[in-house]
Amino acid sequence: MELMEAIKGRRSIRKYKPDSIPDEALQKIMEAVRWSPSWANTQCWEVIVVKDPKIKSELASTLTRTNPALSSMTEAPLIVVLCGKKGISGFKKGEPATIKGDWLMFDTGIAMQTLCLTAHSLGLGTVVVGLFDHKKAEEILGTPPDREVVAMTPLGYPAAEGFAPKRKELSEFVFYDKYGKK
Ligand SMILES: Cc1cc2nc3c(=O)[nH]c(=O)nc-3n(C[C@H](O)[C@H](O)[C@H](O)COP(=O)(O)O)c2cc1C
Repeated sequence: MELMEAIKGRRSIRKYKPDSIPDEALQKIMEAVRWSPSWANTQCWEVIVVKDPKIKSELASTLTRTNPALSSMTEAPLIVVLCGKKGISGFKKGEPATIKGDWLMFDTGIAMQTLCLTAHSLGLGTVVVGLFDHKKAEEILGTPPDREVVAMTPLGYPAAEGFAPKRKELSEFVFYDKYGKK
C-alpha cells in the first residue's frame, strides 16, 4: 500500500469481526514498532498483547461506559497495550535533558502510529484508546512501578468502515518563518 494512501485511509475502527489474526501479521506489526524512531534510540516502549478473554473484559472495564471504543475492546480478537519505561526517553545521565521532562508519551505515540498504519496496510483495524483508568489497567496487567501503561488498541478485522472526521485545513495550522505567519 502506498504511504499516503495508508495515512489517509487509516480510520479508527470500532466494530470488529471475531476472526483471529494470523501470527505472521502480528509479528509484522511488532517488527514495524521495533523500527520506530525514539529519543536517542532509547526505545522505551513495551507491548502487551492480550488474547485472554477475561483480561480483555477487565481492560474494557477501565473505560467509561460512554467511551465509543468500549464494545470494540471485547469484540476484537486481541488488545495491544502500549507501555513505556519511565525516565529514559529525554533523559541524559538520569536528568531530563529538556523542559519537557519524560518524552515517553511522544515515543510511545510514534510507536502507536507505526502500529496502526502497519495494521491498516495488512487489512486490520485499530482504534487508539487513551481515555481509561490507567492505574486500574496497570494493576490488571501487573506492570512494574517504573513502567507506565500509555494507550491501548483493539486489533482485528474491521466489521464496519470508520467514517473520516473532518480535518483542519493546512492554512489553519501551517505557518511560515514565525508563528501565525501564513
Ligand atoms: C491519543 C489518542 C487517544 C484516543 N482515545 C480514544 C478513546 O479513548 N476512545 C475512542 O473511541 N477513540 C479514541 N481515539 C481516536 C480518535 O477519536 C480518532 O483518532 C480521531 O477522532 C480521528 O479519527 P480517525 O482515527 O478515524 O482518523 C484516540 C486517539 C488518540 C490519538
